[in-house]
Amino acid sequence: MNQNTNFRNAPPRAGAMLEALRGLGYTTAAALADIVDNSISAGATEVRINFNWNGTSSWVAVMDDGRGMDDATLESAMRLGDRNPLEKRDSMDLGRFGMGLKTASFSQCRRLTVASVKDGATSCLRWDLDALANQTGGDWLLFEGPASGSEKLLEPVTWVSSGTLVLWETLDRIVTNGFVADDFNDLIDRVESHFAMVFHRLLEGPRERLKILLNGKRVKPWDPFMYGHASKTWESPIEKKRTDSGVIKVACHVLPHRDKLSPSEFETGGGPEGWTAQQGFYVYRNERLLVAGGWLGLGQGRAWNREEAYRLARIRLDIPNTADAEWKIDIRKSTARPPVSLRPWLTLMAEDTRERARRVFAYRGSQTPGIGGGPVEQAWRLERSRTGVRYRIDDKHPVISSVLDAAGPLLPMVKAMLRVVEETVPVQRVWLDTAENKETPLTGFSGEAPEKVVSVLNTIYADMVGRRGMSSASAKKMLTATEPFQNYPGLVAGLPDEELS
Ligand SMILES: Nc1ncnc2c1ncn2[C@@H]1O[C@H](COP(=O)(O)OP(=O)(O)OP(=O)(O)O)[C@@H](O)[C@H]1O
Ligand SMILES: [Mg+2]
Repeated sequence: MNQNTNFRNAPPRAGAMLEALRGLGYTTAAALADIVDNSISAGATEVRINFNWNGTSSWVAVMDDGRGMDDATLESAMRLGDRNPLEKRDSMDLGRFGMGLKTASFSQCRRLTVASVKDGATSCLRWDLDALANQTGGDWLLFEGPASGSEKLLEPVTWVSSGTLVLWETLDRIVTNGFVADDFNDLIDRVESHFAMVFHRLLEGPRERLKILLNGKRVKPWDPFMYGHASKTWESPIEKKRTDSGVIKVACHVLPHRDKLSPSEFETGGGPEGWTAQQGFYVYRNERLLVAGGWLGLGQGRAWNREEAYRLARIRLDIPNTADAEWKIDIRKSTARPPVSLRPWLTLMAEDTRERARRVFAYRGSQTPGIGGGPVEQAWRLERSRTGVRYRIDDKHPVISSVLDAAGPLLPMVKAMLRVVEETVPVQRVWLDTAENKETPLTGFSGEAPEKVVSVLNTIYADMVGRRGMSSASAKKMLTATEPFQNYPGLVAGLPDEELS
């Protein structure tokens, strides 16, 4: 028997299908971003989002000045599965699945009305989950025009010659039991910070391709890479890789240490989720951010977690929309997974950036051995044995060796003292404090007044040029290569040149 002649027609039931699609897991901010994506793809330069609080009758409207839709296009836009995701898209199109408008909207509301104007002609269509639930046929009834009583909310489209208005009503997933006006305002704030982040590249720069207004207030971009900040620590050149599905671009960044930022810069720099959560890869598709941080499942052996020590590492990664399938883009536009073939390349770059970021974190952004130039005499060294690691004071450090030399009869006491210091390094305390404060404790005179550093320098310098008979030039040279004074070349240079008595 020919298999192809035996079939049944099994269309989904509209009401049940749409209810099921509500559970894709969008946050309100991500759902609205999906609506704004459509506006951007339609060439909009301005998107106005209005949130209106009125208890269970609250509504949200998104109005854009894009090219708009004629009646037939609007009907396809409202239909589920109207466009095949395999279809080739315009290179600037932010869409892929032909689903976002519907899935994003239904994740938040039960009534979706879209009105659009093109060439002066207006069309308006509406999905209404309550109306569909009340009819038993399971038909896909797309209503014409606004719901009665909502006509006024769609008026703005009559004032323009092209553009689209998306209206969400019956916000049952937002206005749940106990949800009050303050919660609505908090929600607007979350949407604002999400938009500032995901659309930052479209909102910023001299061209400012896009303006987004939330209840009339303009969204300001949030730049995860602090471009233009004076103390940016490190930035790699843009690496490009040609793949079968297009060119992938990567630029690695290490951000400035907290000590180099003002409190407000530090607060803003952390981003909506904070520094630790926002480390890692930033994946952009057509300059729209899909993934804000995390290590994309990369790692040597085990996948890397987001850890405090790597929080200054942020990597910008650009993919074109031709790479959607390879990168497993999801309908919500909030995940992307690198294809296996690119993992080794990305891992290598991430590893290098992580290591650089770890050093800036550990050394509080000061010059560190290996970054600032030649080798630096360290005061501490690590002694590894089969039983573990031990921190030892290095007796070759110029200050330690001077004290040992000059100790005379006190030598055994000084050595005993150093040994006591070594054996009581408060490692657990340091570890706990770092974890609790999300910051390494202060060392290397950071945060101290210059006089404090100078007073210690003076003592050591006097011993070098006095007792040890060094020239001031060689004493200064030695001090600039000695921990922790390598961070204060200016103070070392300012020591008096004449020999001290
Ligand atoms: N604001 C708008 N202006 C003009 N056309 C729009 C607008 N919103 C949606 N459309 C049209 O409706 C179609 C369907 O939108 P929808 O968001 O459901 O899917 P998509 O954007 O094609 O793909 P994705 O599911 O990945 O978002 C779009 O392809 C576009 O042609
Ligand atoms: Mg879309």
